[in-house]
Amino acid sequence: MRVTVIGTGHVGLITCVSLAELGHVVVGTDSDEEKIGQLDKGLSPFYEPGVEELLVSGMRAGKLSFTSDSTAAVAEADVVFICVGTPPRASGEASLVAVEQAAAVVGRHASRRTVVVEKSTVPAGTAQRVKQMLVRLKPDLAHEVVSNPEFLREGKAIEDSLNPDRILVGAESPSAFAVMRELYAPLIGNGCRLIETDIATAELAKHACNAFLALKISYANALARLCERSGADVVAVAEVMGADDRIGKQFLAAGLGYGGYCFPKDLVAFERLASGLGYKFRLLKEVARINDEAVEATAEKVRDALWNLENKKVTLLGLSFKPGTDDVRFSPALALARRLMSQGAVVVGYDPEAGAEAKAELPGLEVASDPYEAAGGADCLVLCSEWAEFRDLDLAKLDEIMQHPVIVDGRNFFEPEQMRAAGFSYYPTGRPAIY
Ligand code: UGA
Repeated sequence: MRVTVIGTGHVGLITCVSLAELGHVVVGTDSDEEKIGQLDKGLSPFYEPGVEELLVSGMRAGKLSFTSDSTAAVAEADVVFICVGTPPRASGEASLVAVEQAAAVVGRHASRRTVVVEKSTVPAGTAQRVKQMLVRLKPDLAHEVVSNPEFLREGKAIEDSLNPDRILVGAESPSAFAVMRELYAPLIGNGCRLIETDIATAELAKHACNAFLALKISYANALARLCERSGADVVAVAEVMGADDRIGKQFLAAGLGYGGYCFPKDLVAFERLASGLGYKFRLLKEVARINDEAVEATAEKVRDALWNLENKKVTLLGLSFKPGTDDVRFSPALALARRLMSQGAVVVGYDPEAGAEAKAELPGLEVASDPYEAAGGADCLVLCSEWAEFRDLDLAKLDEIMQHPVIVDGRNFFEPEQMRAAGFSYYPTGRPAIY
């Protein structure tokens, strides 16, 4: 099939390379010409394991190309994916300006009947708006509109796209469902369910999934606060909970909380959508509040260890919102850095991939090129995201180069016994501290 993807960000680019890998002929388009220039050279604008390999192989096979000319790209497409950003407005609602612009390009320049697939995360009701616009611009073409939300995780995006557990398609007509079935045919079966619904259900289900995962994390973080006050161990509590299949063991890791460009903004957008529909979804506000509290609780541990923060050096290991990505948007590590800096601490960070991005986001942050450079002379070290390479840290060396051997573990990454044996004061999250 001839597929055009509008928007080559985290969702759009993965859609491009995955659909090309499935054998479709894909054109990716983006208004950012510099990004298109980079993609043409086989370079990904962001770090994501495996994406450049598929980018290069797709282009070599003649299945994948990029252009900044979206009007030409949509003209002959069988399917057009809208993968543009839906950033939060000041009110927290998702801004749908880019979605409207993308729909207008299809409405004006598609020369044949096309299936327009909404893949960006949007509030329920958006597809209806897109449909109205398409009808207004060219009523005779009768384009189809489909909601096909993305469930991929950054850092595991290729794996999630090519081996999904589910593909969700919300559509109105049998022909639209048929096109989507053909598009994804190689992926369906083998542990991947195709779920077909009406459009509003698909749109709402995406927000429901992200909000529920965020809720699980905040539940674990609220338990962590309780464990810290009662002497219980949140890791063991989560293990007990996870042993019940009805609860499930994933997304119960207490720590610095969730970040990234999905959970924080989707949660607020979902709450705003509910409010617009006349329902006060207060639970979602509480989930966000507990998430903010998780950063404050970690800052409190640093203060507890160091007393006054003025001119104390604090090292943060891991600056991206989670390991496996260079994405620092809504990163809890940077929220913690801001908080510590505002109280007078000198904060030095290290991240295997996101150092430059963190520095651009927070210029006052010092960024080191390796963990030991970051930790030299530090009064305290905070583990903020659990990159695998931190497993190999030489604890004896850290003890030697730090001013004081104090570790705050924002992800319960280290074993308490390992810390005790290495002689550190150790402040985990929701578990007894070791002094
Ligand atoms: C999330 C969802 O997991 C995807 O299914 C969804 O497609 C995506 O949002 C999206 O809407 O585009 P992602 O933002 O890549 O994916 O990140 P996650 O792996 O879900 O982690 C989110 C945050 O939660 C991270 O900051 C992580 O450190 C934190 N987290 C996760 C916890 O604090 N505790 C946990 O137990 C799990």
